[in-house]
Amino acid sequence: MPQTTLIIATRNAHKTKEIRQMAGDSYLVRDANDFHDFPQVEETGTTFLQNATLKAEAISSCVDGFVLSDDSGLEVDALDGAPGVWSSSFGGEEGNHTRNNHRLLDDMRQVPQDRRSARFVCVMVVACKGKARAHFRGSVEGRILLAPSGEEGFGYDPLFAPIGYEVSFAELGAEIKNQLSHRARALSAALEWLNNHAG
Ligand code: IMP
Repeated sequence: MPQTTLIIATRNAHKTKEIRQMAGDSYLVRDANDFHDFPQVEETGTTFLQNATLKAEAISSCVDGFVLSDDSGLEVDALDGAPGVWSSSFGGEEGNHTRNNHRLLDDMRQVPQDRRSARFVCVMVVACKGKARAHFRGSVEGRILLAPSGEEGFGYDPLFAPIGYEVSFAELGAEIKNQLSHRARALSAALEWLNNHAG
């Protein structure tokens, strides 16, 4: 079966793995780790859309075809939407998930069960030749658990239980997460757009 190449403007192997699992066999999914000459993109935006646009436009100016970016994070209502776009450095060190989860639990220590609502948000931008062409937003509602549980996934997955479930994304595993996650919802809209515009 011929495969369509889909380049993801990320160096986060966890995001790429989930996108590869969800996109299925008709896509050859690659990311910035496969291309040594791709620039390191500074995420200077203050919204998911701004950062997703920066990444997609920068990477698509270095390669032919459509590029897809993913900017995502966790919004916690009791923390006024934090950590939001700063999710990956919330604990003080970029990409340190253990520290991020410690800080989140610390900040939530006094927050009772009925005020622990939160959502994961993902904004994806499709760009071509350095210009954004379309964007898609997905989110999943849930709540922050009192303690981490589960081994799968990445980031805040051990602390986030999606609505309708008592356990975390990390405990539910990839099959269920990939059916209802913020990333799954944004990706499904992005792939539909690409099916209609690529080729
Ligand atoms: P970005 O690379 O700026 O988009 O930051 C994404 C950060 O948001 C990650 O480093 C995680 O901390 C968090 N995040 C995004 N998506 C997920 C997810 O699916 N599970 C757990 N954490 C996530």
